[in-house]
Amino acid sequence: MIYMSVTIGTPLQASAFKVLLLGSGELGKEVVISLQRLGVEVHAADRYDHAPAMQVAHYSYTLNMADAEELKQLIEQVKPNLIIPEIEAIATQVLVDIEEQNIATVIPSAKAVNLTMNREGIRRLAAEELGLPTSAYRFADSIESFRAACDDIGYPNFVKPVMSSSGKGQSRVKSFDEVDAAWEYAQTGGRVNQGKVIVESQIDFDFEITLLTVRAKNAETGEIETQYCDPIGHRQNAGDYVESWQPQAMTPAALEESKRIAHKVTAALGGCGIFGVELFVKGDKVWFSEVSPRPHDTGLVTLASQFQSEFELHARAILGLPVNTTRHSVAASAVIYAGVDDHNLSFSGLNLALSNPDTDLRLFGKPEGFKRRRMGVATARAETTDQARELALHTATQVSVQQN
Ligand SMILES: Nc1ncnc2c1ncn2[C@@H]1O[C@H](COP(=O)(O)OP(=O)(O)OP(=O)(O)O)[C@@H](O)[C@H]1O
Ligand SMILES: [Mg+2]
Repeated sequence: MIYMSVTIGTPLQASAFKVLLLGSGELGKEVVISLQRLGVEVHAADRYDHAPAMQVAHYSYTLNMADAEELKQLIEQVKPNLIIPEIEAIATQVLVDIEEQNIATVIPSAKAVNLTMNREGIRRLAAEELGLPTSAYRFADSIESFRAACDDIGYPNFVKPVMSSSGKGQSRVKSFDEVDAAWEYAQTGGRVNQGKVIVESQIDFDFEITLLTVRAKNAETGEIETQYCDPIGHRQNAGDYVESWQPQAMTPAALEESKRIAHKVTAALGGCGIFGVELFVKGDKVWFSEVSPRPHDTGLVTLASQFQSEFELHARAILGLPVNTTRHSVAASAVIYAGVDDHNLSFSGLNLALSNPDTDLRLFGKPEGFKRRRMGVATARAETTDQARELALHTATQVSVQQN
């Protein structure tokens, strides 16, 4: 018998199939657009008004999603079929309860969201339960235990608050002299100030990749199958991605090992959807770094390289629909920063940026910019990844940001 998947009703009417997006950034915006194309009614939430995904959703809500009461109320009001957490700073216990009571499906699963919001949860799962290769690590929650952890791990090492993302509060400690400053910095940069940090040994990698991994149902059997996009190479600056490209060349053995690691960790997290599995590669050797149970910023390149971008893959997978991870082009993406701290910014030079027919742009429409805030992205297709990177970077620099 052929498996019967979701039935999608009419948005804004009683039959609507409703999705609630928690976190309305630029990645969520593309997910919303993909869902809208399939006739889904979308509700978008964030902590500030006019966030990117709110601008393309049917309804939007401004609230503190880390507040369990506020979040519960919103879910009761919207009554979504699916809840998509797009950020990590959420009262995740509420999602665990919602899933247990079968009120809505949490994407990809409450367990995945709960474990990945905290570096300790996902690291212990990957290294201790699943036995995957990772950097050596210690956790510390006081200056004394932190000093000991640093000495244990050695130098240089990486220090990260367990509750943080995008490089916040993160530092690379080169010697014992820098230990106390790293502790102070971590205490100011964490999201929810639990004070706990992870100290990781530095992995001496050749390159790092994101392996976009999709768990989606087989159209006929309804069984969840795991599929992979071609590996995405990227360059990070202070814990934030600056450019990415696809495919990243690697040995067949390293690719196989990457898929093995991605399969194991995503199967343990469960549910349907896309996962950004971050891996470090040296020759044939691969280390697991971390995983996002949602589209990944470095995966913006798939807007230019694949028949179904990571956002379309996610939208289809969470609806229980089949996916196609095939790449049609070699491509790269480069980030466009605000460069200033101001509201109400303008973007020009777009004609120059787009003069090459193999380039494209996304401007996210964020109401406020900061020097290092990502306001847009340029993508480019070319014969080789080197050419695509050069063209994407060139395209990004053609866009100039003005204050009004
Ligand atoms: N143990 C390590 N060895 C070598 N490099 C590392 C290590 N940990 C982190 N890095 C470097 O720092 C970058 C950011 O680290 P990580 O991904 O853990 O932080 P993050 O704040 O979650 O970043 P993002 O949210 O952008 O993914 C990595 O992509 C890598 O370039
Ligand atoms: Mg990362």
